[in-house]
Parts: sequence; C-alpha cells; structure tokens
Amino acid sequence: MRSKIVAGNWKMNKNMTETEALLAELSAKLPDSDAEVMVAPTFVNLAVSVRNLEHSTIEVIAQNMHFAESGAYTGEISADMLLDIGVDTAIIGHSERRAYFGETDEILAKKVTTALGKNIRVIFCFGEELEDRKSDQHFSVVESQLKNALFSLEASAWNHIVLAYEPVWAIGTGETASPEQAQEMHAFIRKTITEAYDAATANKVSILYGGSVKPGNAEEIFSKPDVDGGLIGGASLVADDFVAIIKSI
Ligand code: PGA
Repeated sequence: MRSKIVAGNWKMNKNMTETEALLAELSAKLPDSDAEVMVAPTFVNLAVSVRNLEHSTIEVIAQNMHFAESGAYTGEISADMLLDIGVDTAIIGHSERRAYFGETDEILAKKVTTALGKNIRVIFCFGEELEDRKSDQHFSVVESQLKNALFSLEASAWNHIVLAYEPVWAIGTGETASPEQAQEMHAFIRKTITEAYDAATANKVSILYGGSVKPGNAEEIFSKPDVDGGLIGGASLVADDFVAIIKSI
C-alpha cells in the first residue's frame, strides 16, 4: 500500500509567533486519518516547530536543502543541519525554486543524491508550464524532468522518494487541474516509472498533486486512483482549511 500524504508548504509565510499559533491550532484540530500529515515552515522556524510538535504525529519537513555537505555557500542549509534538528524530509525542486532561483534539473539531481545519501526523504516537485500544456508538450516536459533528476537512481532509492506533480499554471493561481487532468498525468507518471524501472517500483511511489488544492476540490482530486495526496500551499496556512483537506483524503 502506498502512503497517503498531505503536506503543507508554508513558503515564506508566518513569523515565529504565527508559526507556533498555527501549529497549536493544527494539533488541536488534527483529525484521525491514515494519511501522513506534514508541514514545511520556513527554515528559521523549523527547530521551534520540531519542538512544538514533539508529541504530535504531524511531521516537520524542509522546503529546500543544498547539495553540498558544508562550506562556502552563503545563505544555504545542509542536509546534516536538517537532520541535527530532527528534520528528515525535504521538498526538492519546487517550481518557485526552479523559476526564481535558477534550479535546473542538473542541480536538482545533485540535491536528490545528497538527500538520499543522508537518508533524507525527498518530496520531488515537477510540472509543466501553461505554454507546455497549450502546445501539448506537458507529458514530454514531465517525462524529461523526471528522467533528468531521478532516473539515474537505483530502484531501491525510490523507497525514499515521494513525487509531487504541480502544474505551474495551477500554483497559487486559484486555477486547479481538473481531477481528470490530475489522474491522467499521475497515471502517465506511473507508466513512465514502470518503463524506466518496473511496475513494483512505480506502484509503491506516492504521487501527490499540488496546485490550488482547497477544501472544496480536495475530495474529488484525492478520489482518483493514482493521486495519493496533496502538496498544499495557500490553504495550508489556515488551520481549518488544512484540516478539511486532511479529512477529505
Ligand atoms: P498552492 O501552492 O496550493 O498555493 O497553489 C501549492 C504549492 O506551491 O506547493
């Protein structure tokens, strides 16, 4: 059975006081669910979040990490620094990292290799832009993103990888892929992994959908057979919305 996962990506939102308040509200309202629930606060609030959630099943994850072990990389955070504060999952390849910080497939491949070498679970994000979909290139774009960053890995590495398909045109725009579009792409992703590896590997990978998931559309998206959960941006900043999304899985 694949894990069901609902992960909240808080991006550059919430100061420390707000972080602690949101975590307290989430913990108090957390519904019983067989899904893994994760939150990704900003780096400066990771350690305090881990402490606040010591007795909670909510997992604290990182929004990013650097590929180097340590050294002269001003402003960056290493895998060991995350592990040291009790964070062992990182989002890698978010479209905002790709678009605003120049993270290429090549850089992302290095980040994934470093993370897995340190036993950090990776939530790997990818997805096409609007022009790609309009010109019917969305499948080939997604395939090359996966191939370039992940397909040199050994099959066993996939035990520590979660995929998050996030069409760029649906992130923060209020526009969502229809449940059918999400299912179509998720099935394509599984087929691509089957061809590169085998069906057993493809069937055990959790594939999350991300892009304007809200309480009103989560249930239908999550009901699709190849959608194993969601990576939630805006709606994860409001406890009641995030809780409603968790309930709908
Ligand atoms: P959104 O963000 O839910 O605000 O569209 C999703 C994401 O960027 O992971």
